Amino acid sequence: MPGRLKQTVMIRPLKRQTKQVNTPVEGNAMNLFQQLRQSLIHSPEKRTEKYASQMMASLLTMAWFVEARDPYTGGHLWRVSRYARLLAEKAGENAAETAMISLGGFLHDLGKIAIPDSILRKTGPLTDEEYDIIKTHPDLGYRMLAGHPMARLVKDAIVAHHERPDGRGYPKKLAQEEIPKVAKIVGICDAFDAMTSHRPYRAGMPKEKALSIIRENMDSQFDIYYADLFLQLGEEGVLDHIIAHSDEGIPLRDCPMCGPTLVIRREHQENDHIYCRNCTGEFVLKLQDGLLQPEPTGGQGQASDLEPELDTGLIAATVQQSVADLPVELFTRYIDHGDSSIPIP
Ligand SMILES: [Fe+2]
Repeated sequence: MPGRLKQTVMIRPLKRQTKQVNTPVEGNAMNLFQQLRQSLIHSPEKRTEKYASQMMASLLTMAWFVEARDPYTGGHLWRVSRYARLLAEKAGENAAETAMISLGGFLHDLGKIAIPDSILRKTGPLTDEEYDIIKTHPDLGYRMLAGHPMARLVKDAIVAHHERPDGRGYPKKLAQEEIPKVAKIVGICDAFDAMTSHRPYRAGMPKEKALSIIRENMDSQFDIYYADLFLQLGEEGVLDHIIAHSDEGIPLRDCPMCGPTLVIRREHQENDHIYCRNCTGEFVLKLQDGLLQPEPTGGQGQASDLEPELDTGLIAATVQQSVADLPVELFTRYIDHGDSSIPIP
């Protein structure tokens, strides 16, 4: 495929900018990403699909931190990413744009990792002060990613997915066409997944109910053009294999105590043990009608059993698809330019 080979590299000095680091974690990540970016800029031999894959894997691994934190979000990133891909395809976007939108769906909530559990998992209404803290997650997410060689690929999805056409969103109160396309798409997909997913304090809504809420809020909360296309996808039934799933063809399974919280990964096999990360219940996987079904053992997981594990199979598949669709020219262009709006230590 043209353009997938090494590029002529234009080396430019990196500007020293004002140091502005908010936490040690952010600072360390920014140093690491800055080294990565410099190494790629100054090493043309590294500008290959292999390195694009490695960069992409590091992006998706960061996204996984959010998933690892909350046992009730199993599969949320994958579902939002899949809905966003379907909606981009429905809108006639090309393969590269669709891949970027899908990646945006995977990374959009990165900043939630910095929001305290007491707020993130609160079941009652949030106070104004708590809501103000929630509203920091888009900017926070992008600052955490700052300096990553591929940060700009997903910037708009991260910073603008809570903006609304009526200007009542956050953080910037953008309106209508000020909102980037990827953010309009991810905003709809994120809301649909939140409505159709089970939470500790409520069951997920049926698809039809969630679609009717999107219909009622077109042009106020949701972009009218993309919301209309999303409703068409819902009516065509093409969202059904994603709702309440954590991967392609793998539905979330029920823990009798906690609801659909059990994530079965593509590398799991019969007789593997899995655990509900919410109540610690132990299950053994048994093959029934070609599907792995969890059966309770009556036991409970120990601390090591309950550690969140990176879904390497899913990440590898997502990387493969993204890199296949994103031309290396695009990847290198993002590295060349970096993001001058981000303070670099
Ligand atoms: Fe969000």
